[in-house]
Amino acid sequence: MTLQVRKVARIIEPRPVLEGAGVRLKRSIATAELDHVDPFLLFDHFGSSNPADYMKGFPMHPHRGIETVTYMIEGRVNHKDSIGNSGTITDGDVQWMTSGRGILHEEMPQQIDGEMKGFQLWVNLPAKLKMTAPRYQNIASDQIPKVQIQDGVKIRVIAGEINGVSGPVKEIAAEPIYLDVSVPPNTSFSQPIASGHAAIAYVFEGEGVFGPDESEQEPAVGQPRLVVFGDGDLISARAMDQGMRFLLVSGQPLNEPIARYGPFVMNTQSEIEQTLQQLKNGTFIQK
Ligand code: FE2
Repeated sequence: MTLQVRKVARIIEPRPVLEGAGVRLKRSIATAELDHVDPFLLFDHFGSSNPADYMKGFPMHPHRGIETVTYMIEGRVNHKDSIGNSGTITDGDVQWMTSGRGILHEEMPQQIDGEMKGFQLWVNLPAKLKMTAPRYQNIASDQIPKVQIQDGVKIRVIAGEINGVSGPVKEIAAEPIYLDVSVPPNTSFSQPIASGHAAIAYVFEGEGVFGPDESEQEPAVGQPRLVVFGDGDLISARAMDQGMRFLLVSGQPLNEPIARYGPFVMNTQSEIEQTLQQLKNGTFIQK
């Protein structure tokens, strides 16, 4: 059996958005151009050295029916929530938050010298887990394995497995892979992804070419861009002269109806209406 290298289905240029209390972000999933890539509902990239772009933060707000995954490359964000967690996410840390039936939380960037840089991904929950108890996995940077493979490619393994090394994020319904991949100049990298799973790459440093070898005529994808792959068994990438760093994320599609309203993602409109009703009458947070 020959393994199929996934072709590039789409290349998305992130759009500038204002989110939270006025934070400037680059959004590439959850836009008019790309609503979602099942099971991924939203992808935001924040990166700025101007505190005015991020200091207003994300004051207390609810979520239901999804998981939010925050990966800080550089910077500091204080968080606290309605189930008693609080702490700081800083350089290289990950927070994988399963909102389940409901959580209220705030995410407030702290002013730093230099760049505030990171990502937030939303992963959908299957209908049977949308009303599960909320859960956090806070992963400090030093708990994230760093794997160096041939040709000097370096990978931080946040979720999934590479060369027998597993990432610390566990028991997520979408069976995700979440890798931060640094590829040296003019070097290739490939990674198996289960056939049938959605796969995306977000290039945030340098540029490279994705897809099968014969697609060398393909244009190089330069940061910041989101690549959405077609189906197949593995992804293949080749960095250009400056090298390339990208996130590689995959997950199992749910193939369920999506009813979304801001921070709530359910299966039906009536579940959304019920959620808004519960927020209004104070029964949204269920112990
Ligand atoms: Fe949030």
